[in-house]
Amino acid sequence: MTSDIHDRLLIVDFGSQVTQLIARRLREASIYCEIHPFQNVTDGFLNDFDPKAVILSGGPASVLDEGSPRAPKAVFTLGVPVLGICYGQQIMMDQLGGKVEAGLEREFGRAFVTASDASLPLLDGWFETGDEQVWMSHGDRVTQLAPGFEVYGTSPNAPYAITADPARNFYAVQFHPEVHHTPNGARLYRNFTDMAGFKGDWTMGAYKDEAIRKIREQVGDEKVICGLSGGVDSSVAAVLIHEAIGDQLTCVFVDTGLMRMSEADEVVGMFRDTYNIPLIHADESDLFLDALAGVSDPEVKRKTIGKLFIDVFEKHAKSVGGARFLAQGTLYPDVIESVSFSGGPSVTIKSHHNVGGLPERMDMALVEPLRELFKDEVRALGRELGLPDSFVGRHPFPGPGLAIRCPGEITREKIEILRKADAVYLDQIRRHGLYDEIWQAFVAILPVRTVGVMGDGRTYDFACALRAVTSVDGMTADYYPFTHEFLGETATRIINEVNGINRVTYDITSKPPGTIEWE
Ligand code: XMP
Repeated sequence: MTSDIHDRLLIVDFGSQVTQLIARRLREASIYCEIHPFQNVTDGFLNDFDPKAVILSGGPASVLDEGSPRAPKAVFTLGVPVLGICYGQQIMMDQLGGKVEAGLEREFGRAFVTASDASLPLLDGWFETGDEQVWMSHGDRVTQLAPGFEVYGTSPNAPYAITADPARNFYAVQFHPEVHHTPNGARLYRNFTDMAGFKGDWTMGAYKDEAIRKIREQVGDEKVICGLSGGVDSSVAAVLIHEAIGDQLTCVFVDTGLMRMSEADEVVGMFRDTYNIPLIHADESDLFLDALAGVSDPEVKRKTIGKLFIDVFEKHAKSVGGARFLAQGTLYPDVIESVSFSGGPSVTIKSHHNVGGLPERMDMALVEPLRELFKDEVRALGRELGLPDSFVGRHPFPGPGLAIRCPGEITREKIEILRKADAVYLDQIRRHGLYDEIWQAFVAILPVRTVGVMGDGRTYDFACALRAVTSVDGMTADYYPFTHEFLGETATRIINEVNGINRVTYDITSKPPGTIEWE
């Protein structure tokens, strides 16, 4: 689904680690944009996409290398503003008649840019209090500007930090305005899109109306099935689709017996009772827990759960009869194609763990109304749809559920202990007002019993580990720096309130080298 009402900005991706952040900064300014790998940006594509402006991203290649990527020539003849970032600047200079040479050393990190001429509209709001901090990350550098370009800002190591050919509306900077360490960077993007004539009208309200119209168009009077996991993405997708087509939507919530405390009740309460959405609540916990008995290898656990889930989901979905569409909460980061320099674009499309393979098997068409959104935009859409903050702000929860928080063999007893300990831990985090600062927090029950003493008696119970991390996307993460008081109080509460645990540890591993989940 692409936005056909709004002005569109095209980001041509050359493989920078931070290309997604360009899109984030633009979306924050209510600009609709899409990222496409350079290989896919053909003349035909440009014609169809019809961008109102183009940004050329950074990237790891060197323009000096044989066969390194270039921008499609048509980008420079479209007659729309073009902004090159880092590698994007270098290819602009190279392709438009300037010169790029290998730098003597890589420049990486914080730098300060001094204005040579701050009157350029791109620089509105810049240099008002002196030099601007920017983030550099480059090896090669521009040594001769392309005809028509002038210098507007310099840094000690980048004499061409900000360059422009205002007559042609071409702009090129050596640094990365999209990253946090270029504090005024968002303003630069806003100036660029203002100059390109964007209205900045891509709001969540507008997105919602448009998405509803498109769902109606796609689905007609057919039936749609949506798998609910209790997570934010599938919940928002379901409420949106329900707003579009009402009772043509049926949700299926499979309780695997591996959900957190009260989760099943909350989901059923919210969707069936509050929203009146037809909902099949399939309590299949015995099936899953029996299948997992004796399994301790993490991959076998995941595969067992994944396969069973598909079988069970298919059975319940078929019971609806005649549904032609399957709804999924796929997000934009899952569909952006990554750039590879060794051959064609390598497509890294993650399908949701739980429903991977389902659409093909059931021969259903997909409805994916969140395909254009980042996670925080999904949360904003959820609020727009009236979902309560407590639901919209929930921590992510993995498809295999508590199974991957129970290293070693899974038993009903261990899952029950884990569920209780997890509930106490989350209650502690909420009571201390820390929930929203944390990306994900949970307890893992360890496959080890330890000796303890309670009252005058000996105990021989399970040990558990608390996990809490901060992250922006789950790809990298830091452990959360709880105070010792918080940790001590939490350990005491878990041991007092949860039979079966007599030792509590805190996991202080970041990702990498650890992962967020224990399995
Ligand atoms: P890791 O453990 O790989 O997790 O650092 C990164 C993020 O992904 C979640 N996760 C999953 N989500 N199905 C899911 O839907 C899965 O199989 C799965 N494994 C990990 C994890 O909770 C964290 O947010």
